[in-house]
Amino acid sequence: MRKKVLVGNWKMYKTINEAVAFADEFNQLFSESPHEVGFCCSFTQIASLKKAFNGTQIKVGAQNMHFEEEGAFTGEISPAMLTELKVDYCIIGHSERRQYFGETDDTVNKKLKTAFNHSINPILCVGEHLEQRDGGKEFDVVKSQISEDLDGLTDEQVSNLIIAYEPIWAIGTGRTASPEQAEEMCGFIRESVKELYNESVSDKVRIQYGGSVKPANATELMTQNNIDGALVGGASLKPEDFIKIVNF
Ligand code: PGA
Repeated sequence: MRKKVLVGNWKMYKTINEAVAFADEFNQLFSESPHEVGFCCSFTQIASLKKAFNGTQIKVGAQNMHFEEEGAFTGEISPAMLTELKVDYCIIGHSERRQYFGETDDTVNKKLKTAFNHSINPILCVGEHLEQRDGGKEFDVVKSQISEDLDGLTDEQVSNLIIAYEPIWAIGTGRTASPEQAEEMCGFIRESVKELYNESVSDKVRIQYGGSVKPANATELMTQNNIDGALVGGASLKPEDFIKIVNF
């Protein structure tokens, strides 16, 4: 049985004070969960959130990192800087990074390798644009992302990977993929991992759905066979919303 993993992606929201206030409130609502629960926040919030969630099972991750060990890369963050903060995850290749910051399958692949070398659990994001889905290209697009992003990763690494299927047309739009659409693509991703690796790896890899997940649609999405959790943007910003998703 794969453990479900529900992670908030706070994007560029919340100051440190706001993050700590959220954590205090969330800690009141959250006691224990059979699922893995966490938040990927801005770099400035990581240390304070780790402290605020200390003694709970709630994990804290980053949203990006550089693939190089260190160097003249103004404005970037290195893997060692993140491991020093004991991050539990790092989102890699979110569509907003691909769209606005020029990330490609090649840089995503390098980042995944660096993350694993530093024992940071990556959450790899893949997903198609609306025109690609409307053109019937969604499976080709996602398959090519999977094969390029995972290139050179070992069985063990992919077994421990979290992949978030996030159709770009569903992110922040309020337009969620239907449970059938989400399940179909998550099943396809698992099948693709099986083709590239083997069944033991594809049984272990955890595949989240992301894109306008909210309390009202969480149960239907989270109870699909191939959906092992959610990456949640907007609805993770309010404790009273996110706790409902965690308790789906
Ligand atoms: P959303 O964002 O839940 O606000 O659609 C999801 C994401 O970008 O990870």
